[in-house]
Amino acid sequence: MSKTPSPITKAVIPAAGLGTRFLPVTKATPKEMLPVVDKPAIQYVVEEAVAAGMADILMVTGRNKRALEDHFDRNHELEEALTRRGDQDKLDSVCASTELADIHYVRQRDPLGLGHAVLCAAPHVGDEPFAVLLADDLIDPRDPLLARMTEVRERHGGSVVALMEVGPDRIHQYGCAAVRHLAGSDGVRVTDLVEKPAPGTAPSNLAVIGRYLLDPEIFDELRRTRPGRGGEIQLTDALRGLVERGRPVHGVVFGGRRYDTGDRAEYLQATVRLACEREDLGPGFRSWLRDFVGAQELVGV
Ligand code: UTP
Repeated sequence: MSKTPSPITKAVIPAAGLGTRFLPVTKATPKEMLPVVDKPAIQYVVEEAVAAGMADILMVTGRNKRALEDHFDRNHELEEALTRRGDQDKLDSVCASTELADIHYVRQRDPLGLGHAVLCAAPHVGDEPFAVLLADDLIDPRDPLLARMTEVRERHGGSVVALMEVGPDRIHQYGCAAVRHLAGSDGVRVTDLVEKPAPGTAPSNLAVIGRYLLDPEIFDELRRTRPGRGGEIQLTDALRGLVERGRPVHGVVFGGRRYDTGDRAEYLQATVRLACEREDLGPGFRSWLRDFVGAQELVGV
């Protein structure tokens, strides 16, 4: 019987992209710091990693990293002011991000691609398996994904990617995986990967989304990987390299709620949906939203 792999405790969160889809706000603010209701998008992702037992977090940052570091650091002045006012709820909310996890930072000097950002994590990660969570991919905490990926890794070994079915009109925006089903398993075996396939050439309707459990062998593969789409070093290309060399790469098909908060329309959907579902804001917001949509329909907008 094969040995159960050791549990993953380290998570890498790349947050050094340029965020061009969200300009101009991302000119001076990282897209990961955009608020989804009242928390920056990246805090949801850190909470997800911690809930999955990964409390050692490495953020790969680029320019504008100050806001990110400040958010997860203490703010003594604010904490003292809230303490003086006796505002415990706000104080708790301010301290929550500081106490969440053991957070480290590494700088990606130039945005040379997601694969390059992951390679920047090699000295911190060392020779152990690790997770990668993309900071602009918000997975609803009620639809656990990392736990399912961990199960597939424990059962089948190797690296595990998260996949999502998308329509043929959108698959060219993603990395795309060809897969073989594994009998009696929640997972699939990945047989090929293509980064952003040209329209009409996608090998399946399964898009790679922003959660990965990776064996440390990915670092050597990334060192061998030449720039691909957009002149960037792509993580998808390195994973394809592993597949081509017969290394095990598995997948989990996710059908839950997920928002690409780096995309303006999906960001708005995430904000509205999470606001509607909040106990404190939800009732008032839902009622306003109903009236607003009703009024829009009346005037034919
Ligand atoms: P995206 O493909 O969303 O690229 O990156 P981007 O540059 O951030 O955004 P757009 O497309 O220009 O709007 C996916 C993830 O990889 C990180 C991003 O921060 C994001 O979490 N990334 C990307 C890096 O950390 N470094 C890079 O060089 C590229």
